[in-house]
Amino acid sequence: MPDPALVFTALDVLGHVAAVDTTRVLIGVSDPQLITRVGIGNLVAIKGSTEQEFLIGITEKVTRSIREEFLEEEEETSSSLSLGIRADDIVRVVLVGTFRTVLGSKRNAFKRGADSFPQIDRECFFIEGANLQGFMGLLGSELKEGERLELGHFVIDDNAKAIASGDRFFQRHASILGSTGSGKSYAVALLLERASKLLHANIIVFDMHGEYEPLAVKDKGYARRYRIAGPGDLDNPGEDVLFLPYWLLNRDEMLAMILDRSDQNAPNQASRFTSHVRDLKRKTLQAEKQIETEKTFTVDSPIPYSIDELVQLVDFDDTEMVAGKTARDVKGDWNGKLTRFLGRMRAKLEDRRYGFLFSPPAAAMRYDWLAKQLVSVLRADTDGSGIKIVDFSEVPTDVLPIVTGTFARLLYDLQFWMRSDKRSPFSIICDEAHLYLPVKDDADAVEKQALATFERIAKEGRKYGVSIVVVSQRPSDVSRTILSQCNNFLILRLTNDRDQAVVGRLIPDSMSGLMEMLPLLDIGEALLLGDAVLLPTRIKLDCPVICPASGTRDFWREWGKTQPDVSSIEEAVETLRRQTRPS
Ligand SMILES: Nc1ncnc2c1ncn2[C@@H]1O[C@H](COP(=O)(O)OP(=O)(O)O)[C@@H](O)[C@H]1O
Ligand SMILES: [Mg+2]
Repeated sequence: MPDPALVFTALDVLGHVAAVDTTRVLIGVSDPQLITRVGIGNLVAIKGSTEQEFLIGITEKVTRSIREEFLEEEEETSSSLSLGIRADDIVRVVLVGTFRTVLGSKRNAFKRGADSFPQIDRECFFIEGANLQGFMGLLGSELKEGERLELGHFVIDDNAKAIASGDRFFQRHASILGSTGSGKSYAVALLLERASKLLHANIIVFDMHGEYEPLAVKDKGYARRYRIAGPGDLDNPGEDVLFLPYWLLNRDEMLAMILDRSDQNAPNQASRFTSHVRDLKRKTLQAEKQIETEKTFTVDSPIPYSIDELVQLVDFDDTEMVAGKTARDVKGDWNGKLTRFLGRMRAKLEDRRYGFLFSPPAAAMRYDWLAKQLVSVLRADTDGSGIKIVDFSEVPTDVLPIVTGTFARLLYDLQFWMRSDKRSPFSIICDEAHLYLPVKDDADAVEKQALATFERIAKEGRKYGVSIVVVSQRPSDVSRTILSQCNNFLILRLTNDRDQAVVGRLIPDSMSGLMEMLPLLDIGEALLLGDAVLLPTRIKLDCPVICPASGTRDFWREWGKTQPDVSSIEEAVETLRRQTRPS
């Protein structure tokens, strides 16, 4: 049997329980030397109801209050009373778990949650040195080999590895939050790197700035990279270029983009659009002889149709003349009512920035294209290429929500309709989530569509093996519904009070004391809490071997030696006009 992980001597006695409420304990410190070693986030053990049991707490406040008091003089010789100084040392801890040296046949068992309340005057011990090592070593040891997700080291004991349950981390959504430059992208790269060691990891990263490209560099990297087609890719798209042809969009997504709800003819426009799209999809199914699908498809089903034909049909409605009661022709039912709708649609079709939607290559108009594309995106071969980076950096910001939303919806819907015994789980990492998963009050029609998709995944994804990891520097701008579904948090340095307040509301009440740490964390340091770990802890994340291109520039040093390149400025002006980056 292993030795007990916690063995205390008189030297470890910090003090005694002075006050208790449901989760917090005040400890009156008896050792004025020891208290100088206690910091925020340290661990304390409080004697529990049996000899074998200790309640484990995290220190969240250490105070010394000085008061003056009358000294009880032994000799009553002097007539005046003398005043003396007295210090009261108090440590406030939040209870987080229960440790038992023996539990049935098991030694050294730790579980989250306090099994009992400590009683007044119970002895409290400071956990440090060998006790700390022994205890921290326990935290990941319960996890089976295949479930371990190693993230870094504990700050309070850098000999002990911080290990989370990989299953629980991804199972019920996670979020990685922190101010810009705090190390979020590095944390994502670390997760990906660890996952890439698994035979069939399946993670799709929504990369907003093309930061994760180095992870997919040939030979060195482990990830596969896709790029959403930019204006320059339309004529001759490469292998890695991804299109999201308009026919993948459901009715609401399409209308969010082209319908102006304030137009008095909006209901007519929506109804003609719906009816024509349904007819065109039916036409495709008939040509493809998909008789079974034709019986049950809806206007939302992803079935290719020609957008040019749609424009013609709408145009026809908009200009139709019908035979009147007299000899003269009169305007048809829809005549003139669709003009603005048509205008908006044509404007989108002509805009090359929307090419990835409206100018798909011929191959992407074929009936069997979708299955091939989804197989490619969801494959996870043994070479570790189950890590997929999708670069959205060339997608115009106003459609970013629709594109990310449609992409996520397709993946989710596919998983939803898959035979349940054949599903294999995957996770979507949403980097810079505030850009496309905004707080609802501010959302426009397009953003609302995307939100609805991600909220559905956040609420129901777990049942179908789809999870999300939300990454953001502005948690206060990210949909609360989505954040509040996250069960694991990796919170890096966070300096803004509004963001801190939002994070404070997401984590359990009892942990709120730990929030004070957030502005003080170093780069790459994080508070890890949630159901993937037994104990909320401050950890130092490992640095990934292949780092993302975070693009942090050394302004001062660069100004000291390099001059801006004139020809590149000129070239960029043309690039700006062409809306195509030079390759
Ligand atoms: N775990 C880490 N270890 C060491 N350095 C790190 C770590 N994480 C981040 N950094 C440093 O901080 C910089 C910013 O990190 P990054 O992940 O791009 O921040 P964010 O995505 O939060 O804006 C990186 O360029 C790197 O130098
Ligand atoms: Mg980043």
